[in-house]
Amino acid sequence: MGAEQTGEQLYTLYCSACHAPDGKGANNGAFPPLAGSPWIEGNPKRSIAIVLNGLHGPIDVKGKTYNLEMPPQGAALSNEQILAILNYVHTAWGNKGEKVPVDLVRVARAEFQSRTTPWTAPELLKLFPIPIQKTALSDLTSRVYKGQWNQIPNFDKIQAENIEEEHDGLINPSVAKLDANFGIVWEGNFEAPESAEFEFVLDSDDGSRLTLNQNVVCELNGTGPMDGSRAKTGKITLNKGKIPFRMDFFQNAGPKSLSFKWRKSGTKEWNWLSEKPVASNDSKPSILLIPTDGKTVIYRNFIQGTSSRGIGFGFPGGLNLVYSADNLATELIWSGDFMDASRHWIDRGQGNQPPSGENVIKLTNTRFLPAEARFKGYSLDKEGNPTFKVSIGSQVLTDSWKPGKEGALLRTLTLTGGSELKIPLGNAAVAGAESVTLAPGKSVTLTYPLN
Ligand code: HEC
Repeated sequence: MGAEQTGEQLYTLYCSACHAPDGKGANNGAFPPLAGSPWIEGNPKRSIAIVLNGLHGPIDVKGKTYNLEMPPQGAALSNEQILAILNYVHTAWGNKGEKVPVDLVRVARAEFQSRTTPWTAPELLKLFPIPIQKTALSDLTSRVYKGQWNQIPNFDKIQAENIEEEHDGLINPSVAKLDANFGIVWEGNFEAPESAEFEFVLDSDDGSRLTLNQNVVCELNGTGPMDGSRAKTGKITLNKGKIPFRMDFFQNAGPKSLSFKWRKSGTKEWNWLSEKPVASNDSKPSILLIPTDGKTVIYRNFIQGTSSRGIGFGFPGGLNLVYSADNLATELIWSGDFMDASRHWIDRGQGNQPPSGENVIKLTNTRFLPAEARFKGYSLDKEGNPTFKVSIGSQVLTDSWKPGKEGALLRTLTLTGGSELKIPLGNAAVAGAESVTLAPGKSVTLTYPLN
């Protein structure tokens, strides 16, 4: 072995492909951040466990839910290497993780030796709890009631089965150990950070009602799923300080769930007062990527079971596309969610099937550039927008995509070298023409609307 590598060097080798050199999560934050992550604070055995055995399933990191898979790194790394990496990660980027004691990795490796599957976030929280974050709810208690209802009953006329204090300041229906036919009332104080108008969003399976200062702010009565279709938004002006808070909830059948968030009117960030709902309940791994910070996000090789090397881009305006490196063309454009890999793409079998979502437009599924055309890769501008490059003999064709006005995409084709070239565009209804003819040294910009 040569000279020993520092924790930072080892981090670069073994972690930064997914967590990014700056710790903010690779692919514009499609992977979870280590910078500022509460998962590396407190008992250092937690992060050792993650590195040794990996991690899968839903996990909340800094207000965002991920549902991905981190492969175990224990076999690839020695105890000394893990120690060096974690002592770097725990203090890099302003992190407040504890120093890892010299022998702890060896001890932890022996302790978790018989473990054959990656950890889940709830398992880790049970073994190594994260210090509780403060929410706007204080002095919170829950009262659980038994009974079958189709509407929110008057709980004050019913005797509670159980009363508990909820120190985490979160509204969570699983405080009831029952799955069906029960109700819960939470009471406490909502701390308004200033005198202002506030916005609340409530959704649940089944019914729920938010009351602040004796005013009903949002109510979803009756039974039904928590899929967003019944979610209610309410606004109320509050004076700074502690406001009497009450949430009534009943569960008839189906999954017991409640989501609840608030913000000051006119601000952007939501504050969660429940656990954040996970985007997909599928048993298959879900990979939900969203453009963040006004940047385009990229996902490679996600069209499983197809022959094409698809590269997906989700643009901040809400449009998405897949470029095929085999067919040298943008094949699909769609609007809305960029992608949930489990819902749209996994297990689709053979063939290049488009996602089943709304407004999916097939531009082409054939290769129409001349036979000698070769994919030369792509580059990204600083907003993350792609330019695909194709060589055709001595000519080079570049094909750039970026968001335009009102949700449209702007596509610029540029040709260099050789002589004039006719470039088929596929679906003429979307591109506005079947082809464009480009002279060397010239470019043309097309707008792709979706409706
Ligand atoms: C192949 C990609 C990949 C590599 C390599 C990788 N991780 Fe991860 N890591 C992930 C993913 C994905 C998650 C989230 C898993 C989930 O959704 O359950 C994660 C989660 C974590 C978490 C908990 C969540 C958070 O953001 O704090 C820690 C801590 C962590 N990784 C540390 C490391 C360290 C240290 C290394 C290097 C030794 C490393 N990871 C290497 C992909 C990776």
